[in-house]
Amino acid sequence: MILSTNNILKKINTEINTFKYGSHPQNLYEPISYLMDLGGKRLRPMLVCYAYSLFENDISTIIKPSIAVEIFHNFTLMHDDIMDNAPLRRGKPTVHEKWNNNIAILSGDVMLVKAYQILETLAPSHFKKVFPAFNQCAAAVCEGQQLDMDFSQKKVISMDEYIEMIRLKTAVLLGFSLEMGAIIGNANDENIQHLKLFGEEIGIAFQIADDLLDAYGQADKFGKKVGGDIVENKKTFLSIKALEIASKSEQKLLENYFSDQEISAEQKIESVMKIYNSLNIYEITKEEINKYFESALLHLGKVKCDIFRKGLLKKFIAELMERQN
Ligand code: IPE
Ligand code: IPE
Ligand code: MG
Ligand code: MG
Ligand code: MG
Repeated sequence: MILSTNNILKKINTEINTFKYGSHPQNLYEPISYLMDLGGKRLRPMLVCYAYSLFENDISTIIKPSIAVEIFHNFTLMHDDIMDNAPLRRGKPTVHEKWNNNIAILSGDVMLVKAYQILETLAPSHFKKVFPAFNQCAAAVCEGQQLDMDFSQKKVISMDEYIEMIRLKTAVLLGFSLEMGAIIGNANDENIQHLKLFGEEIGIAFQIADDLLDAYGQADKFGKKVGGDIVENKKTFLSIKALEIASKSEQKLLENYFSDQEISAEQKIESVMKIYNSLNIYEITKEEINKYFESALLHLGKVKCDIFRKGLLKKFIAELMERQN
């Protein structure tokens, strides 16, 4: 079979559609199918499969393990949406909105267990490497998520602190996905490391792009509430850069908007966006995304593998950088 994004995606979706999470109690398992069935880009399992395909020909055996990272990712989203007071996910009500917080907490918890149960089925030689890497990654995601929450209470966060926060909450999982695919593909340690670092750099670009879409995305395509980060006083690439380059008076205004509880959500979004626009934040952010993409490619360049397959992965990532959701 020809390796293509569409073919891999189809296989991943078939695996997800037939996977049995459990059925009773319904309130524990139904929210899982609900969220997983809403789709999404399936980026992380795609990365697992692409990394594996650099070293092995037949991708059919990697599909099942690859969905462990998608289930884990969706678990983090279920909890993240509670923490971010998010009403929408993939164009539909979030789990805590449709059910309630307690249900979203517990369904999320059992998703993590389901991810573990898939990893249990790995061959011992792979499991020995994948398991500690997964645990390290999962702890890092929690650390990043806590920093994200802490930062929204603080007035000033440096760009370095922000980059470290998004490396933890988002980038390490992309790095792990590539690492896992490479490990199961029996790649050597050097190749595994370069792929992991490639994933982390891409992950930083990916989260900055997510911040950008949160402010500038089209509601119908984005699937989340546009302006949600502004309403929640999130520290994003946009908010930090804006504070960095704003005039004294604009700085004061921004600081007020990001602390004022009185102002309505819509007014706040409109006012902050006006300042972002006057500072060319859109263009500056686009440039930064490109910078991380370019530096990521240096790591990919060091991976010794089939050059054609590597080209497919590069093309997949280049398209990802232009995403609208
Ligand atoms: C959303 O991830 C959370 C972030 C790390 C930005 P995705 O943008 O991959 O979400 P889905 O899975 O495609 O919906
Ligand atoms: C989420 O970051 C990262 C994780 C879920 C770990 P965001 O809070 O920006 O993700 P979205 O925008 O809700 O998807
Ligand atoms: Mg969040
Ligand atoms: Mg969120
Ligand atoms: Mg976001």
